[in-house]
Amino acid sequence: MASYDVIVIGGGPGGYVCAIRCAQLGLKTACVEGRDTLGGTCLNVGCIPSKALLHATEMLHETEENFAKMGIKVLRPDVDWDKMKAYKQDTIDQNTKGVEFLFKKNKIDWLKGWGSIPEAGKVKVGDEVHDAKHIVIATGSEASTLPGVDVDEKTVVTSTGALELGKIPKSMIVIGAGVIGLELGSVYNRLGTEVTVVEFLDVVTPGMDAEIQKTFQRTLKKQGLKFIMGAAVQKTEALKTKAKVTYKLKKDDSEHVIEADTVLVATGRRPYTEGLGLEVAGVEVSERGQVKTDAHWSTNVKGIYAIGDAIDGPMLAHKAEDEGMAVAETIAGQAGHVNYGVIPGVIYTHPEVSNVGKTEQQLKDEGRNYKVGKFSFMGNGRAKANFAADGFVKILADKDTDRILGAHIIGPMAGDLIHEICVAMEFGAAAEDLARTCHAHPTYSEAVREAALACGDGAIHS
Ligand code: FAD
Ligand code: NAI
Repeated sequence: MASYDVIVIGGGPGGYVCAIRCAQLGLKTACVEGRDTLGGTCLNVGCIPSKALLHATEMLHETEENFAKMGIKVLRPDVDWDKMKAYKQDTIDQNTKGVEFLFKKNKIDWLKGWGSIPEAGKVKVGDEVHDAKHIVIATGSEASTLPGVDVDEKTVVTSTGALELGKIPKSMIVIGAGVIGLELGSVYNRLGTEVTVVEFLDVVTPGMDAEIQKTFQRTLKKQGLKFIMGAAVQKTEALKTKAKVTYKLKKDDSEHVIEADTVLVATGRRPYTEGLGLEVAGVEVSERGQVKTDAHWSTNVKGIYAIGDAIDGPMLAHKAEDEGMAVAETIAGQAGHVNYGVIPGVIYTHPEVSNVGKTEQQLKDEGRNYKVGKFSFMGNGRAKANFAADGFVKILADKDTDRILGAHIIGPMAGDLIHEICVAMEFGAAAEDLARTCHAHPTYSEAVREAALACGDGAIHS
């Protein structure tokens, strides 16, 4: 048994970042993690492995689609799936070991095992009970499936199983056209799998800008993904080597059955708080299973805080990290803060999709007087040279003050481009501030400047 200033439960991006910041601020810190490696969902079965497979298959796509156009002659590339998975695992290992190194460097104790909170001020790991002045719950989330859908992680899989399939399936049904469905659907589509996405709504990626949704779905269709929209999945049935999916079309209530080698269930994630003993500790949880917190990440029990996927808000690694830093600063007596209005979202498909701030629909609903500055990558020299001219940058600004309210990008490096707009928004910038900033030529970022120019007197290259 040991005594700590802070014990963080969960070693994902929320938890490990929180632990590091606590240690940097001079607090004696431990982090409890039950997995064999640190890094949580993100490093082990989420962001990092999925991005490795997206990168590898993007290279495959580049080779097949664009090499010949640039005069590079190669034999048709062949995929060694086991080697590709080994590359993915190596990427995971480098990252998880990196976090372990950071723990040692910052003198953070990794308490290996599953933690629970028998009472405020105490954390139990295995048979040991440790004292902690402050406890941070950072236990993350797990895939949430549907009634009638039985996941075996072989034929009917969540994202975790989809990252580890024994072989590349000939066909795959993806349930849910959200971020996971479209990222992993893209991976397998590029590997030659016939991918059919079944989505409950009439649009992909709910909550995103409507114009982006349409362009994104059209682009994915061109790449070969098939979509069945407005379809509520009723059940799945695993056969020996295939699985059946039954869905009902909302428009006429008709029932249909389709089958494929693999079914990926990507219908959202839910907070994971099992075994923590929250009821015993008296920590309140919402109807959706999220640990309830106030504006300073404090639960209703003094000395117990919660962050990341386990609480309300977008389930994103960087949101969890920011909360991890902010709660550490709060515990250390500083003014920890997260600006929830400026949290970017990125989908790492090809092209990438990114967003920050408000959508047009949200501004309309708020009755806000806004203007739109849009610029197509067709007018961007670098994008044309790199066969990456599909897509656009769209900036939304206040019509009267010119202040940037949101931005939506589909196109090359959209996930990186969004950040200059995030910084601008943090500084309360006007579109004109971006438009008057010199951008190097030829870069994709010129498209952002052009969209900002389009909020004023007009873009130059459109
Ligand atoms: P987690 O990362 O889930 O970590 C929680 C940790 O707590 C886990 O390791 C768990 O083992 C541990 N734990 C739980 N209970 C206990 C306990 N009682 N005792 C000890 N340990 C415990 N987000 C992005 O921003 N970008 C992406 O590109 C992205 N890609 C994704 C791809 C996939 C396939 C998935 C599934 C998710 C992706 N996400 C992405 C979401 C991202 O992974 C999560 O938002 C993020 O990991 C949340 O961090 P967290 O620290 O709150 O929780
Ligand atoms: P999601 O919430 O993004 O999408 C789920 C989709 O499933 C929705 O479109 C929904 O309408 C649909 N759906 C629900 N029930 C259905 C039914 N019965 N039949 C058909 N469709 C149905 O969830 P997803 O993709 O599982 O991702 C989970 C979380 O992981 C997200 O919150 C996301 O933030 C995070 N993530 C982030 C990534 C990134 O930042 N690049 C990558 C992957 C995941």
